[in-house]
Amino acid sequence: MKPRPHPRPRPRPAPALLARTLAALRAELGDDPAVAAIAPADAATLAASAGGDALRLKRWLKRRASGEPVAHIVGHFTFRGLSFAIDKRAYVTDPELTHLVDAVLARAKALRAAGRRAPLLADFGVGCGSLALAIRHHLPAARIVGLDLDPDALAVAARNATAHRLALRLIESDLFDSWPTTLRAPDLIYGDPPWGDATTLYETTERPAGHYHAMPPVSAFPLGGRTGVHAQILRAVARLGWHSEIWLNGGVLPPAELTALARNAGAADFAIVTPAPGLSLLRCRMHLR
Ligand SMILES: C[S@@+](CC[C@H](N)C(=O)[O-])C[C@H]1O[C@@H](n2cnc3c(N)ncnc32)[C@H](O)[C@@H]1O
Repeated sequence: MKPRPHPRPRPRPAPALLARTLAALRAELGDDPAVAAIAPADAATLAASAGGDALRLKRWLKRRASGEPVAHIVGHFTFRGLSFAIDKRAYVTDPELTHLVDAVLARAKALRAAGRRAPLLADFGVGCGSLALAIRHHLPAARIVGLDLDPDALAVAARNATAHRLALRLIESDLFDSWPTTLRAPDLIYGDPPWGDATTLYETTERPAGHYHAMPPVSAFPLGGRTGVHAQILRAVARLGWHSEIWLNGGVLPPAELTALARNAGAADFAIVTPAPGLSLLRCRMHLR
């Protein structure tokens, strides 16, 4: 007689699994405020991704209660409809960056229409590669070089580029120090450099200051003040004599602060663009053509 196959335990539906696992956590930890503070939406995302595995969900809820971002725990996030692998080696892209991608895509398309060659773009602080790959996905003709101080983030970007089958040249570099001498100056430079401090956060309860403190140390808060890295970028471009158009995310920094930054760095031409209420992008050139 054939042995009867072992019946596989059916994965529990996520809400039931979550209720049971939260009860198990409470039994273990008592009424710990960090567990109580897990946002219901985060708990639901973790439960939905746990594949019916109660032990995994319990581990994940403890990590979330300790402050790890949900994307780092589940290992992926979605930006502009594309899925990106992520882990604690790289910054989790803020959804507000979709406005920068829109602006860069519009300008890169215009550059392509105006010129005879594919536009060359430099992604400053490429992180996990989400912005560059979203741009390349919509504009395959663009050549993009992603720069980052952090080799761990570059490893995550390389993995995402492979997964999306999109070419992306990645270079470990402080500012533009390691820009290849064989390449011309980029037509367009863009990025979300670290900016602000614990008092300048996106207006959302899902990403308090702790969310940013859980990111890789060089990725969230800048050296040299709230717009320190922006200023370093502008000065580096000025020193290099590049005519590149520059687009930098300013997040929720007041437009007056970005204006002062551009003036102090000696921008030849600049504007503060407001893609949505309370959000700013800095567009500038350090040298006119
Ligand atoms: C806010 S994160 C943005 C990452 C990615 N662009 C995104 O939107 O998800 C800033 C990135 O800038 C990089 N970075 C910080 N200082 C840098 C520097 N001096 N030169 C190059 N990259 C730098 C960090 O390692 C980090 O990946």
